[in-house]
Amino acid sequence: MDLEKRISEIRRQFEADGGIPPEKLRAKYLGRDGAVRELFGLLGKVPPDEKASAGKRLNELKSELERLIDGLPSAVPVAPGPVVDLSLPGRAPEPGRRHPVYRTWDEIVRLFQRLGFEVVYGPEIETEYHNFEALNIPLEHPSRDAFDTFYVRKPYLLRSHTSPVQIRTMKERTPPIRVIAPGKVFRPDKPDAGHSPMFHQVEGLMIGEDVTFAKLKGVLELFAMSMWGADTKIRFRPSFFPFTEPSAEVDVSCFICGAKGCPACKGSGWMEILGSGMVHPKVLENCGIDSERFTGFAFGMGVERIAMLKYGIPDIRLFYENHLAFLRQF
Ligand code: PHE
Repeated sequence: MDLEKRISEIRRQFEADGGIPPEKLRAKYLGRDGAVRELFGLLGKVPPDEKASAGKRLNELKSELERLIDGLPSAVPVAPGPVVDLSLPGRAPEPGRRHPVYRTWDEIVRLFQRLGFEVVYGPEIETEYHNFEALNIPLEHPSRDAFDTFYVRKPYLLRSHTSPVQIRTMKERTPPIRVIAPGKVFRPDKPDAGHSPMFHQVEGLMIGEDVTFAKLKGVLELFAMSMWGADTKIRFRPSFFPFTEPSAEVDVSCFICGAKGCPACKGSGWMEILGSGMVHPKVLENCGIDSERFTGFAFGMGVERIAMLKYGIPDIRLFYENHLAFLRQF
């Protein structure tokens, strides 16, 4: 055996193994089955007078390799790409939540569904016919004023109330009818604490052979009591809408002060929540419903208004500004 030849072979091999991690190199050259150990095992075959120098050469090789391996940077393999610290606490995305207007919308819808009302929808871009004419709103009526309505292009406009859905429903269906129609409505009002150019309404419509004003009262009473508690009272004030006769505005007793009078109800003990009335016979006839045989009631309430009363929100504009501090409260 040519010892020197084997030693230089091992050295060359070791250099060629440059990329291998230190612990693997250690096993390959110095481990129990390693190349250097193997050479030590062959020492027995070396002639006696060469043994001492051969042993010394092998020990030199062994400690040289040990030194080289110890000097290598300890190899924690570094993955390419950005360094990620897996021990950092995570940044959890904040879950979204339902907007207070839509929470109120859902609640109103659920209450009327329980009373047997079905939900229907109508388009936000309406015709003058559905928004005005069919509802018996005369040409000179203030709500038809071009300044009080957003026109897309005559005769199309952004609906100024959800009442046109009454017309669409009565034209499509035959009595008995019992629906509510929630949706967006648009009016070019200057924004202030109580006005917004877009807001939401829920329209109600019930048509049948025995639909009376007393039923309207009963339905709205149940609604108010479910919404604000069993002690809630409602009252009707005579009013006027071209599409209902008689017409009434409905107030609920102020649930903030218990009808004693407070800033929220401006000291009166009552808060207005909706417009209502018995569907005008002309409107029934416009939709092909026999006004001798059928009667009906309708009402329309502002969702923002109900939400403001429910949550004690003083300014309608808060709903649209999307301040997280405001929205997180719901
Ligand atoms: N459409 C009316 C409004 O927007 C409300 C209303 C609806 C009144 C149904 C009577 C009947 O003011």
